[in-house]
Formats: sequence, C-alpha cells, structure tokens
Amino acid sequence: MDFKLNLKPSFFFFSFLIFIFLLSKPVLGSASNPKCISSERQALLTFKQSLTDPSARLSSWSGPDCCKWRGISCDPGTSHVIKIDLRNPNQTLRLYGGFKEGSLGGKINPSLTRLKFLSYLDLSSNDFNFMEIPEFIGSIVSLRYLNLSFSSFYGEVPASLGNLSKLESLDLYAQTFIDEGPTSYNLRASNLGWLSGLSSSLTYLNMGFVSLSGADETWLQDISRLPKLKELHLFNCELRNLPLSLSSSANLKLLEVLDLSRNSLRSPIPNWLFDLTGLRKLTLQWVELQGSIPSEIKKLRLLETLDLSFNALSGEIPDVLGNLPQLKYLDLSHSSLEGQIHRLLDALSKNKGDGLVYLGLNSNSLNGTLPAESLGELRNLQILDFSLNYFTGSIPSSVGNMASLKKLALHFNSMEGKIPESLGKLDRLETLDLSSNKFSGAIPQSLAAISSLHTLNLSYNKLEGRIPKNPKFKDPSIYIGNELLCGKPLPKKCSRKQQTVVVN
Ligand SMILES: *[C@@H]1O[C@H](CO)[C@@H](O)[C@H](O)[C@H]1NC(C)=O
Ligand SMILES: *[C@@H]1O[C@H](CO)[C@@H](O)[C@H](O)[C@H]1NC(C)=O
Ligand SMILES: *[C@@H]1O[C@H](CO)[C@@H](O)[C@H](O)[C@H]1NC(C)=O
Ligand SMILES: *[C@@H]1O[C@H](CO)[C@@H](O)[C@H](O)[C@H]1NC(C)=O
Ligand SMILES: *[C@@H]1O[C@H](CO)[C@@H](O)[C@H](O)[C@H]1NC(C)=O
Repeated sequence: MDFKLNLKPSFFFFSFLIFIFLLSKPVLGSASNPKCISSERQALLTFKQSLTDPSARLSSWSGPDCCKWRGISCDPGTSHVIKIDLRNPNQTLRLYGGFKEGSLGGKINPSLTRLKFLSYLDLSSNDFNFMEIPEFIGSIVSLRYLNLSFSSFYGEVPASLGNLSKLESLDLYAQTFIDEGPTSYNLRASNLGWLSGLSSSLTYLNMGFVSLSGADETWLQDISRLPKLKELHLFNCELRNLPLSLSSSANLKLLEVLDLSRNSLRSPIPNWLFDLTGLRKLTLQWVELQGSIPSEIKKLRLLETLDLSFNALSGEIPDVLGNLPQLKYLDLSHSSLEGQIHRLLDALSKNKGDGLVYLGLNSNSLNGTLPAESLGELRNLQILDFSLNYFTGSIPSSVGNMASLKKLALHFNSMEGKIPESLGKLDRLETLDLSSNKFSGAIPQSLAAISSLHTLNLSYNKLEGRIPKNPKFKDPSIYIGNELLCGKPLPKKCSRKQQTVVVN
C-alpha cells in the first residue's frame, strides 16, 4: 500500500511527462519541418505538368516534401499547403523582354482545387498567352489573396470569383507589356454583380485595364456593396458613367485609396465623394472632370494625396484645400482653373501638418502675383510647378527659404523683375526653369553655389550678363534663344545633356 502510494504520484508525474512529450513532439516537429501531405503533393505535381517553365523556376518541385518546394508554404500545424507564390521575380526586366524568359505559361490545371486549405495564390507577372481565367479558380473557396495581375489573361472575368467568400485581396490588373494582345483590353467584366459574394471580406480590389464598359450602368452600385473595401483601383477601365448621387456611399466608409484615373467620366465632382471621409489618396487623373472643385472637399480630413490633374476643372482653387492637415501631394495641373493663389498658399503655409511636398498647378489659367510671405514658409516643398499660367510680378526673395526645393518651374508666365540672388540658398535645387517670361537684369551669380543644379533654363527673357560659373556647369550646353552655343568649340562637350544652361 505504502509502496503503491509512494509510487502513484511519481508514476502519474512520469506518465504525464511522457504524455506531454508525445503530445508536443509532432507539434514541435512539424513547426520546424512541416511534412507534405501526399495527395497535395500529387495535386501540385499535376499543376506543374500543365505549366511551361522555360527558366526552370520549378526545378525544386520534385523532392518528397512539397512544403520545401520553391513558392510553396504549408501550415506549420497541419502541413496543408496554404500558399502558392509563383510571381515572376523578373519584374524589372518586363519592359525589356527579359521578363518573358522567367515567365510561367501553359495551362492552369484544375488539380489546384484539391488544395482545400489554399489561402494565397499569386500567379502574377507571368504569361498565360491570352487564355481565359479558369472558372474553377472560383471554387478554391479557402482563398484570401488572389493575384492574377500582369499575366496576359483574356476574355470575361468569370463570375465564379464571387464564390470566394473569404477573399480579402483581388488583383486582376490587366496591363501586359507583351504587345501581341488581341485588343488593348484583354480582360472584361460585363457585370460586376458577383462582387456581392465578396462583401464580407474584400478590402483590396484592382481591376485596372479591365474593360468595364458593359458594367457601366451599375459599376458604382456593385462596388458600394463592399463595406470592407479599403483600396479601389479602376485605372483605365472604359468607364463612362459617374453617378452624381449614391445612396449607399455610407457603405464605403472604410475606403482609403480611390483611383479612377483614365476613364471618360465627363462629370462634375460628385458630392457623395465627400462622404468617403477615410480617404487618404484620391486620384482622378484624366477623367474629364468638369465644373469647379467644391469646398466640401474640406471634409476629407485624412487626404494625403490629391491628384485631379488633366481635367477640365474651372473656377478658383478653394483655399480650404490648404487646411487639409495631412496633405503632402497636390496636383491640379492641366485644367482650366483660374484666379489667384494667395489664400491657398496662406492656408498651406499655416498648416500644422508635416507639410506639402509636391505642388503642381501648371497648365491652368491662374494669375496674380506669387505671395511673398507664405511661399517662403513651404519648407518641405520639393517640387513647385506653376508653369504655363498667367502669373505676373517678380519672384519673391523668400523663395530662398524653401529649403527642400528640388524643382522650381515658372516658365511660360508673364513674370518680370530681377531674379533674386536668394535662389542661391536652395542647395538641393536640381531644376530651375524660368524661361519664357520677362525677367530682366543680371543673371544671379549665386546660382554657381548650388552644386545639385543640373538643369537651368533662362531663355526667352531679357537677362544680361555672365553665365554663373558653377563647377557642375563645366562645359554646359548653352542655349541662346534656340541656338545651341558651346562654351568652347568642342562638339563633344556639347553633348553633356544632363547639365544644361539656357539663357538668351
Ligand atoms: C531573369 O532574367 C535574367 C536575364 O534575362 C535571366 O538570366 C534569369 O534566369 C531570369 N530569372 C528567372 C528566375 O527567370
Ligand atoms: C500583385 O502582383 C504584382 C506584381 O506581379 C504586384 O505589383 C502587386 O502589388 C500585387 N498585388 C497585390 C494586391 O499584392
Ligand atoms: C460558383 O459560382 C457560379 C457562378 O456564379 C455558380 O454557378 C456556382 O453554382 C457557384 N458554385 C458554388 C460551389 O457555389
Ligand atoms: C485674373 O483672372 C480672373 C479670371 O480669369 C480675372 O477676372 C481677373 O481680372 C484676372 N486678374 C488679373 C490681375 O489679371
Ligand atoms: C528652355 O526653354 C525654352 C522656352 O521655354 C524651350 O523652348 C526649350 O526647349 C528649353 N530648353 C531646355 C533644354 O529645356
């Protein structure tokens, strides 16, 4: 009895240890070394056999443990294949054709549907030679991430994708750098009703270069049924319809990034847009926007990037834009905006945020003078482009305080007076274009101090005097009017294009 009683606790303790050991061993073992499930290995091999692989990217797909194959990841606990990442690594060579060598192609085998735990599938930047996106992709219902971008698919986007009810990220961006495509729009979606199947999960959608002309009447309603959406990219989708009202805009409250660029929307800026108060980035470039920029835009308090360039916007720029606390990038170029910019720049310069980095107002009908005080306060501004407007007056010497400036473009205005010597304080300046104005007097010799300056165009003014002797300007190409004049009669030295000095 005593013996038994003495034995019992240690026996239990000992068997408990063994039990823990047996329990933990497979878990620990598989965590460091998941072992491939043979039916899944077979499914992957079948998938591989249907692909073409000219650069042998799948050469590791032969050993017994498919979890170790290149591009495959398994769940550490269950060993199920959860991720297939076959994105072409040769992205940068895409433009030069090198991409094609690294591309996978051929057929996508339905054996993929046997991977019941696959949550991540990236076949992007490959070359599937204008075959259709297989319908059966829609039955891999475990998918959370699907990337078929840049892969030369053709035809109708299968509505079966609406069965992927867990999908969080869908990238179908259809631009291809292979020119042999049957049309410029290889993929199309005539109906986006299937998106409703993704309503409980989808946060990212990119259908750039997919023709949505067939879905034109309802595209926005369909999209607005995705209440979790954070990013929407519909660049160049043949959209022609931007509804002015949207009852369900409230559903898009989480939207942070909206890009509808390169569509023929031919519309004023609709008011429902200002309900999307989570927006950080709004890009409506080249969409034929008309009318003025409503001051309600001030409701988009989180906006960091606003790009409304290449439109037909008219009226004055609302100065409330200057109060957006996070604004870093503002491009309103290439429109028909008019009036003065004093109040806008005053607001921008008083802004307590990190500060504006990019300000493009070029190619509009803006006029008046440049505001002396506020301009000098834009200390984070790197790019200032006010060219091709009707600005008058002189350059305020406060520009010398814009310590971050890399590019100052004021060409094609009606500005006059002396060019201030304070420009020489801009020690990060790379490009200075003051051409086609009425500047007079001597060329400021302080420009010689800016070692970063590589492009200087002062032509078509009334300037006089010497060209500043910047060590970087050694052997510049010097323009007088349109005539190329080399400092020394050595033709070779004229070819240094990166260092251009232009005067008249
Ligand atoms: C990427 O491109 C280079 C040059 O064309 C080629 O040598 C290399 O094999 C490619 N890499 C892959 C993984 O295809
Ligand atoms: C999809 O893949 C491309 C490269 O092939 C990449 O640029 C893009 O960011 C990916 N999309 C997502 C949503 O991760
Ligand atoms: C998947 O979607 C298609 C097309 O919408 C539909 O016909 C099919 O029944 C769906 N399959 C499943 C398993 O839900
Ligand atoms: C500036 O342009 C506006 C609108 O085109 C015009 O009414 C105004 O007279 C112009 N002001 C100056 C100073 O040219
Ligand atoms: C300099 O400005 C003139 C007039 O604006 C333009 O015609 C010329 O192309 C410019 N030159 C360079 C090198 O940028």
